[in-house]
Amino acid sequence: MIKLDLSNTVVNIPFDAYIQDVKVIDKMLKDKTGAGNDFLGWTTLPRDYDKDEFKRILEAAKEIQDNYDVLVVAGIGGSYLGARCAIEALNGLFPTNKVQIIYFGNTLSSTYCSQVLNYLKDKKFAINVISKSGTTTETSVAFRLLKSLLISQVGEEKANKAIFATTDKSRGALKQEANEKGYRTFVIPDDVGGRFSVLTAVGLLPIAVAGGDILSMMQGAEQAMKDFDDNNVLTNVCYQYAVARHYLHKSEGYPVEMFVTYEPSFTQLGEWLKQLFGESGGKERLGILPDSVTFSTDLHSLGQFVQEGAPCMFETVILADEPQEDIVVNEDPANLDGLNFLAGKKVSYINKKAFEGTLGAHVIDGKVPNIVITIPKMDAFNLGYLFYFFEKACAISTYLFNVNPFDQPGVEIYKKRMFHLLGKPGYDKI
Ligand code: PA5
Repeated sequence: MIKLDLSNTVVNIPFDAYIQDVKVIDKMLKDKTGAGNDFLGWTTLPRDYDKDEFKRILEAAKEIQDNYDVLVVAGIGGSYLGARCAIEALNGLFPTNKVQIIYFGNTLSSTYCSQVLNYLKDKKFAINVISKSGTTTETSVAFRLLKSLLISQVGEEKANKAIFATTDKSRGALKQEANEKGYRTFVIPDDVGGRFSVLTAVGLLPIAVAGGDILSMMQGAEQAMKDFDDNNVLTNVCYQYAVARHYLHKSEGYPVEMFVTYEPSFTQLGEWLKQLFGESGGKERLGILPDSVTFSTDLHSLGQFVQEGAPCMFETVILADEPQEDIVVNEDPANLDGLNFLAGKKVSYINKKAFEGTLGAHVIDGKVPNIVITIPKMDAFNLGYLFYFFEKACAISTYLFNVNPFDQPGVEIYKKRMFHLLGKPGYDKI
């Protein structure tokens, strides 16, 4: 399902030297004996997910599709990036779905908050508030503002029916409120952390509302779960990618991994990857800085740096063999733009040549190592497969650095200082 091309990494990756370490880590994951072993639910989720809850997700999605014009997804970080990535990758940036999806609760910008609320004033909207802790400031502030608008539009009883809360099964302020108000609730399992939660209700409900085939997505993930169960790095391409990124950093000295796509609708995949790898690997003063670009757009901004700037990065290119849609460049008899040499050619063909030309420029001329990952096409099945591929690769490569992939202690530090400055009870001292 995934082709991993390591022929452009400039250096040879010595997989043999990793065979033993990878076997140990694979066993650690399977036996749940490594650091962060409370958060390994994602490893078997594609097979063991709660089928009753899955049915309720599909029912809720249908209800939202039938009754509302907009679904506001209120969440931040792992509580929205996966859904947004999937919805944009599958539906494109100009979707024709009946229900529009809006992302909120992911910023403290007063301008954004006010503009969203203004936009929703005359819309029939439902809310999917997503927070594992139930206390994240960005999400809580947005949710309070949204509720107030919704209640003023339709009254409290109807508002409570239009709110769907995805949170912890028993703990937290959001769960308590949901119980009191009678919101429909969906569970973020205890053993699945935010950035590994796209295949739980966190991602599945918004994706289903947007028309995504979530069953196919789970089947794709399950296929990946089977395919990448093999503990041999010489045959497991997921583990090869994990090792390649570890080697390029640790032994070749590249501190940055630039995720590259050639589709604007995959831009949010870059955002999801940045969180997955950044929050998992960036701790103890270690880690590879994940960044992302969408080419060829960004060849006209960051392209210069990649080609000739400080040699700090390797690129990981993610391609889909078959475009979701295609279009042919038309013939123009006047040919004033001199473009007739492309007449009759598909735009996907031109994009492919842009990739091949860029690969040559970056690897041969720029000496920038490139890893190329190709899926057959971007659909729900392959995206589910890709999600699992990256989650597992992230766990393996982070363990190769001897770092716990599943916590994020650093994220709390800004919160403490912010709470202190805001006068939140219990935060008098920092
Ligand atoms: O991956 C993570 O754990 C974080 O990005 C969280 O998902 C994010 O901080 C939101 O947290 P919560 O779901 O508790 O509101």
